[in-house]
Amino acid sequence: MSLRDKIEQHNLPKHVAVIMDGNGRWAKQRGGMRIFGHQSAITAVRETVEGAAELGIEYLTLYAFSTENWNRPQFEVNALMQLLVSTIGKETATLKKNNIRLQTIGQTESLPGSCQRELREAMDATSQNTGMTLVLALSYSGRWDIAQAVKKIGMEIQAGKLQPEDVNENKFGSYLATAGMPDPELLIRTSGEQRISNFLLWQMAYTELYITDLLWPDFRKEHLHEALIAYQARERRFGKTSEQLTK
Ligand code: IPE
Ligand code: IPE
Ligand code: MG
Repeated sequence: MSLRDKIEQHNLPKHVAVIMDGNGRWAKQRGGMRIFGHQSAITAVRETVEGAAELGIEYLTLYAFSTENWNRPQFEVNALMQLLVSTIGKETATLKKNNIRLQTIGQTESLPGSCQRELREAMDATSQNTGMTLVLALSYSGRWDIAQAVKKIGMEIQAGKLQPEDVNENKFGSYLATAGMPDPELLIRTSGEQRISNFLLWQMAYTELYITDLLWPDFRKEHLHEALIAYQARERRFGKTSEQLTK
């Protein structure tokens, strides 16, 4: 029985989020520059996107560049941005072929113009696709997301369009960058780090965390399958007792 066959189709997460970490260490282990690790990570991205789409996962969110990543050496930031532009350009046809819709979350207006244009073109070209939604988190951070939601809510209240008493958890979620998407049921983080690194803070209130020591450039479809099998073996209690769930 292959790993894929062990995945229960009826118990798939709707939304999987990934912190793609460990590119720098992967390159260092091979005596290469950090950017060599980023370039080598494209295969892992391709495999994960393809693997998730094949299974029928509805949303896949990839943490590609955090707000904090702007603080890396300028050389690395520039190289990452160039890689983003060239990869999106090359992959759009495959996304179209696989019926995948591309979206972004984050402060994409702070990306270089060339990145914004490539993203816009790829999003427009895939906007009618009805399969999986691939969400790239770019210049994203969870605290930024929460703060921008509060700002929008404040402005609507000030303009008389929203009443403070109408703000509840559901309503709040509709002001986040992920509005309309289900919260991720599963977070995968590579490279063994046991932290959230300012990713989807609000949205991950009840997300199952799956951390693997693999470095991101080594991540393949079967590793996604392993993560999903581990997820399906978990008991998601949401504060209830185990007995309540089996009743
Ligand atoms: C993840 O790999 C890629 C980005 C954050 C853009 P890293 O570049 O963080 O690799 P490590 O963690 O230094 O090994
Ligand atoms: C998290 O990885 C951000 C992305 C994968 C884009 P980092 O490598 O930036 O996280 P820290 O610094 O180890 O927390
Ligand atoms: Mg890292």
